Amino acid sequence: MSLEKGLILVIDSHEGNLETVSSLLQNEGYEVVSARNGRIALDLLKQTFFNVVITALKMPGVSGMEILKFVKEQSPETVVVLMTGYATVESAVEAMKEGAYDYLTKPVNLSKLSVLVGRAIEQQQMVVEVEELRRKLDTRTSFQNIIGTSKEIQRVYETVLRVASINSTVLIYGESGTGKELVARAIHHNSPRRDKPLIILNCAALPEGVIESELFGHEKGAFTGAFSTKKGMFELANGGTIFLDEIGEMNLSTQSRLLRVLEEKEFMRVGGTKTIKVDVNIIAATNVDLEKAVAEKTFRKDLYYRLKVITIKLPPLRERKEDIPLLIRAFIDAFNRENHTKVQGVSREALSKLQNYPWPGNIRELKHCIESIMVTANRKIIEVNDLPAHIIQVAHQEPEIRLKAGVSMTEVEKEAIRQTLIYTGGNKTKAAKVLNIGLRTLHQKIKDYNLR
Ligand SMILES: Nc1ncnc2c1ncn2[C@@H]1O[C@H](COP(=O)(O)OP(=O)(O)OP(=O)(O)O)[C@@H](O)[C@H]1O
Ligand SMILES: [Mg+2]
Repeated sequence: MSLEKGLILVIDSHEGNLETVSSLLQNEGYEVVSARNGRIALDLLKQTFFNVVITALKMPGVSGMEILKFVKEQSPETVVVLMTGYATVESAVEAMKEGAYDYLTKPVNLSKLSVLVGRAIEQQQMVVEVEELRRKLDTRTSFQNIIGTSKEIQRVYETVLRVASINSTVLIYGESGTGKELVARAIHHNSPRRDKPLIILNCAALPEGVIESELFGHEKGAFTGAFSTKKGMFELANGGTIFLDEIGEMNLSTQSRLLRVLEEKEFMRVGGTKTIKVDVNIIAATNVDLEKAVAEKTFRKDLYYRLKVITIKLPPLRERKEDIPLLIRAFIDAFNRENHTKVQGVSREALSKLQNYPWPGNIRELKHCIESIMVTANRKIIEVNDLPAHIIQVAHQEPEIRLKAGVSMTEVEKEAIRQTLIYTGGNKTKAAKVLNIGLRTLHQKIKDYNLR
């Protein structure tokens, strides 16, 4: 018997059934309390939290339906399973509407019971976790839609707040899909410039020549096709921020014009003669190594130094896997709201696969993945089978424990425990074995390190 697997209350006035069901569950390793009638059960329920309550529907005195209502009111996370004769199946279906998890017909099929309780416990634990994740999402784990509790992302929040208040050029580095645009927006919206425009220009999307006219505008007749005078982004963004995405793709001549604006805070429209003064802050982003581009002379060194005054490096998702459950939670909630669906979460096993996948497309890939699963799977709990094949396959590899030099032994231990738990799909007994420590020690450490 262990509390670890779950505490179950079985209620039936039919002694034979009560005995059979209770002893089966005991043999499966659950801690089981049996109650011969509903009155005894209510007393127990007032004192103790049960993971699962399995109750007969029809009993003299307090009925299964009353038990169900009591449990749902007092302890909504507790899963209730009903046992019923064929004659009363209809009332069992009725009870499902009141929040019962499922029902079994008598005589109870023991292997069905075992599977059902296993799932019920998993779901119950997940619901508790979901509540915890939601609480976390409400507090310090998200900042301007940037979600995460990892050290890496917390450092990003801090830098965003710091640079937002000081009006400095910022260079954001990060692989595709790591949230560069999200961070740029957060900086603007936390800065005193928030009421002024934020203008986004993707330098990779525009052909050479067009970028200059986009940035600085042009005078009528400046080039073929310039039929009228046009203001550029620097004029339009005056007082605000320009986000230059994929700045590594900007050509050298635009780079030198940009540098001049950054230094002198003034420029001329293409084909113009009048200098225009502006007050604009620049945030630039890139996923190429600008230092290398400087060495290869495709990026101006002076502009590079001018931009990198403050650099924000966004970590790839595979380096902050602990944020994955929280991100999934947030995406599920968001898509539920958007599409009026009621997906509750992902199963433990599926989560473990999702955490082991390396996510080359980072958060964008994770977001799209969750969205498409929710569209196709169409059920409450996303299971392993609902995941795309490439994610299931990769997950067969054993996860590595990755650490950077310069961390304490405590961090090493925390990471080892965290990764091992992911590896064992959350099974603590297995994890303790792999780590070669006692189960009780593991529990204590999970508590100390605040791991779930
Ligand atoms: N920390 C985060 N929390 C929640 N959502 C995020 C986070 N980071 C990124 N996203 C989401 O992931 C998607 C990609 O983010 P974003 O467009 O900012 O990435 P990017 O680095 O600019 O990518 P690319 O280099 O491909 O342009 C967006 O839908 C964004 O909302
Ligand atoms: Mg982007």
